Amino acid sequence: MGDQFWTHITVWTYLCLVCIIIVCGSEDNLFEDLGLEVYPDIRKINISQEEYTRMMRIYLDNLKNESKNTESIPDLLTFKSERKSWRRRRLYFPIKQAQSEVTVDSSELRLLAPAIPNTDLLNISIYQILNRRRKRFITEKTVYPSPIEPKWWDFDLTSATSSWMSGERNLGIEIDCLGCGQDFHPLEASINALVLPKNHQRSKRGIERTDCRSNDPKRKCCRHKLQVDFKKLKLGEMDSIIQPKTYEAGYCRGRCPLNYNYATNHSRIQSIVHRMNKTVPRVCCAPSKLTHLEILRVDPHDYTKLHVEKWDNMVVLECACS
Ligand SMILES: *[C@@H]1O[C@H](CO)[C@@H](O)[C@H](O)[C@H]1NC(C)=O
Ligand SMILES: *[C@@H]1O[C@H](CO)[C@@H](O)[C@H](O)[C@H]1NC(C)=O
Ligand SMILES: *[C@@H]1O[C@H](CO)[C@@H](O)[C@H](O)[C@H]1NC(C)=O
Ligand SMILES: *[C@@H]1O[C@H](CO)[C@@H](O)[C@H](O)[C@H]1NC(C)=O
Ligand SMILES: *[C@@H]1O[C@H](CO)[C@@H](O)[C@H](O)[C@H]1NC(C)=O
Repeated sequence: MGDQFWTHITVWTYLCLVCIIIVCGSEDNLFEDLGLEVYPDIRKINISQEEYTRMMRIYLDNLKNESKNTESIPDLLTFKSERKSWRRRRLYFPIKQAQSEVTVDSSELRLLAPAIPNTDLLNISIYQILNRRRKRFITEKTVYPSPIEPKWWDFDLTSATSSWMSGERNLGIEIDCLGCGQDFHPLEASINALVLPKNHQRSKRGIERTDCRSNDPKRKCCRHKLQVDFKKLKLGEMDSIIQPKTYEAGYCRGRCPLNYNYATNHSRIQSIVHRMNKTVPRVCCAPSKLTHLEILRVDPHDYTKLHVEKWDNMVVLECACS
């Protein structure tokens, strides 16, 4: 089969899935639909801090290498938990207000949990400690412990890390876990933050020729913004994607009047034929130029390793009538 064929299949499968998921909350398997042979069993994932750091650096280097604007690529900062505070399920990390103003792009707590007998599933909640009495809910997640070996878990700690870096008092976090046992404490724990300078140039992509410029609802075919948040797709296997958490995918919509922005000569002909014979559909607004997305995800053949890969045709750059 030709490349073009797969281009179309991939893009349409992806775009349709996004629609289906938004509309119906369907349980399709995105990994299968994207043509990835193996999709991960998230219960088995066990990525060490060392592997995470090593592969995250490679991923960020790749992004920097590809980007015209390296200022828009975050840096990785790692803060190890201080042992003294490993009591009563509390952890403290030496994160202070940043020297210069920064934006926390995302931040993850990674911890090595001890073996926990008699269960293979636990619900964990994490709170930010505000003072003696008050704590703020941060996140909740189901994790899959091992009854015989330690295992790595990770949690999204972006909001807490952000607040500490912008000057809020840092009293650490509390891990709430029914079923972890009274004296539960992690064997290791680190916070990994991806940070950007505050006033970095936001746009990772320059303005393209077909980007929409007005809010006219009846406007002609153009590229609209569409921020995709993998987590909000509510597909379990998305937990195996470490980066990016969200990305600007874009979509195409708008009218295609006569002689407006044809993708190909064929589109031009089809548009003329349509005027004479309505059985032939009119041309419609669709992606005409796409680009890949760099992905850092769990290696589906080895649950202790991460893998940097390119997923083709994930981002719309330009739209045209075709
Ligand atoms: C997870 O990885 C750690 C090493 O980082 C290892 O000690 C542990 O045994 C592994 N756990 C499982 C369940 O494979
Ligand atoms: C950076 O990109 C160039 C081409 O743009 C490529 O030849 C080189 O191998 C890349 N380096 C890394 C570290 O990926
Ligand atoms: C964990 O939470 C889910 C819902 O989020 C619930 O269905 C499940 O029963 C809970 N499991 C345990 C062991 O508490
Ligand atoms: C077809 O399209 C190309 C570029 O879109 C254009 O340069 C060319 O003149 C068109 N016509 C023919 C007959 O190839
Ligand atoms: C219109 O197009 C359809 C589909 O190609 C074709 O079957 C039909 O004969 C055409 N009608 C006319 C009037 O050309």
